[in-house]
Amino acid sequence: MEINKQLLLKKRPVGLPDKETWKLTKTEVQEPKEGEFLVQCEYVSLDPAMRGWLNDVKSYIPPVQIDEVMRAGGVGKVVKSKNQKFKVGDYVYGQTGVQQYVITNGVGYHKVDPTLAPLPMYTGTLGMTGMTAYFGILEVGELKEGDTVLVSGAAGAVGSVVGQIAKIKNCKVIGLAGGADKCKYLINELGFDGAIDYKNDNIADKLKEYFPKGIDVYFDNVGGEILDLALSRLALHARIVICGAISQYNNTTAVKGPSNYLSLLVNRASMKGMVVFDYAKDYQTASMQMGQWMLQGKLKSKEDIYEGIENFHETFLKLFSGEKMGKLVLKVSEG
Ligand SMILES: NC(=O)c1ccc[n+]([C@@H]2O[C@H](COP(=O)([O-])OP(=O)(O)OC[C@H]3O[C@@H](n4cnc5c(N)ncnc54)[C@H](OP(=O)(O)O)[C@@H]3O)[C@@H](O)[C@H]2O)c1
Repeated sequence: MEINKQLLLKKRPVGLPDKETWKLTKTEVQEPKEGEFLVQCEYVSLDPAMRGWLNDVKSYIPPVQIDEVMRAGGVGKVVKSKNQKFKVGDYVYGQTGVQQYVITNGVGYHKVDPTLAPLPMYTGTLGMTGMTAYFGILEVGELKEGDTVLVSGAAGAVGSVVGQIAKIKNCKVIGLAGGADKCKYLINELGFDGAIDYKNDNIADKLKEYFPKGIDVYFDNVGGEILDLALSRLALHARIVICGAISQYNNTTAVKGPSNYLSLLVNRASMKGMVVFDYAKDYQTASMQMGQWMLQGKLKSKEDIYEGIENFHETFLKLFSGEKMGKLVLKVSEG
């Protein structure tokens, strides 16, 4: 009898989630019914958004309920099937949750090809975070050739792809990241034009130096103080993409909003939020384009992979400590 290790939400956290937020349980793997199939999950995606899904508040998606399997995107292999479309041996991506097996009717699942790209990449550059970067910078940010672009969380899953797409479009790109190593990575490996170490540099001075004529597009992954500083350096008709605000996700006090917002008025600028799921119908076109850029050597993808469903909590915290590079992924299958 196969055993399924599952990570369930045990209690709602206040601030940074502690180890007691989740509990690991074991259940027997069930048989799929007619129309269903059984997936052996291999890798799950760890995303900052998971922190928001723990709060019992109205959002773009309902919160994870207590005793429910922790929501997560994941990739795995179909091991039993009573579904015409998904056969044994197929590899799939879907909302598997943080567990080793899942039974599904296939809604929201699609096939992925491990011979074209490594499986973890389908959670990142060729998956949700890559799609966020693509539609965020090109559609929401209305990127134009020659724009000056600032991106925060630049060494992360979304930010690293945003910056590289902007370089492909011949823009000047500056990234904000925590620490000298990440800044060197942005310039030397990803081809950014400059980087700001937000933990050690004077951000306002660096923005003045890098953007003498102002920022055309600011892709915001972090919110808070950095958003405020970017607002004070906008060019005429600038666009700000509100993708995320990781600096605020574990706040126990109110979210810090921007006080420099009148810069939008002065510069006839706009600030627009986005949710990647709104672009689902166009994912395939975008992934084909991303795949092509990869084959041409114009787009690099980096995954930081940890192992063991038991290590979910400490791995998840790396999103907030920054002790990771690129897309954070957890291998949940054993052996
Ligand atoms: N709107 C959407 O549809 C959508 C979809 C996906 C993701 N997102 C958002 O996009 C953002 C990036 O997500 P991701 O998956 O690419 O995560 P990620 O950037 O791979 O990981 C998070 C990174 O954020 C940085 N960080 C953590 N705390 C910070 C703080 N207080 N101030 C500044 N930086 C901090 C850390 O890097 P450093 O070492 O550089 O600090 C960390 O590595 C998140 O805000 C996420 O919620 C939105």
